[in-house]
Amino acid sequence: FAGICGFCVIFCPLLSLCRHGLSEVLEQKYWNKFNISCYYVSNVRKNWTMSRLDCIARGADLVIIDSREEQVFVQSLLNSSQDAWIGMTDSVEEGTWMWVDGSPVTITFWRPGQPNSYQGDQDCGEVLQTEGGHWNDYSCSTEQIWICEKKHKPQN
Ligand SMILES: *[C@@H]1O[C@H](CO)[C@@H](O)[C@H](O)[C@H]1NC(C)=O
Ligand SMILES: *[C@@H]1O[C@H](CO)[C@@H](O)[C@H](O)[C@H]1NC(C)=O
Ligand SMILES: *[C@@H]1O[C@H](CO)[C@@H](O)[C@H](O)[C@H]1NC(C)=O
Repeated sequence: FAGICGFCVIFCPLLSLCRHGLSEVLEQKYWNKFNISCYYVSNVRKNWTMSRLDCIARGADLVIIDSREEQVFVQSLLNSSQDAWIGMTDSVEEGTWMWVDGSPVTITFWRPGQPNSYQGDQDCGEVLQTEGGHWNDYSCSTEQIWICEKKHKPQN
């Protein structure tokens, strides 16, 4: 068995490298797993649209939060001073919040008093870790960090 393990220690990372490429192997350590998805927190700031494009370039999209468990997990990805974009917008129809996959926002974790469409210019959703992880509507042009979500690749 020692021989097989020794072989795998060297060979398996190489195999993974060949199958997925160096950049993907290096990037995998930045993804956090929960249930059937993996999550990535950016380390730079962009507006909501550019944040979404970054996620799509990573084979993902902005995070969709559809359970209390997932909300708690997403909060755990951020420290107490980090607010982050999530995949929610009411830019198509004011007051009708939709997820980036086109599904309606049902279970919600808004901060009390939100969404308030302050000055009529707050069409994108964020997690306010500075306010206990509750959600807020904010101007889409604001540059801040964001969270991507992608489904696990099937293991084979
Ligand atoms: C895990 O994913 C499944 C399939 O989407 C879903 O039905 C279930 O509610 C999820 N569990 C949690 C804790 O989010
Ligand atoms: C939170 O994380 C950011 C980015 O990594 C870091 O710059 C900041 O110092 C952290 N803040 C706290 C309170 O840990
Ligand atoms: C987001 O940033 C891009 C690139 O800087 C810019 O072209 C675009 O107009 C911005 N969108 C919003 C809504 O601010």
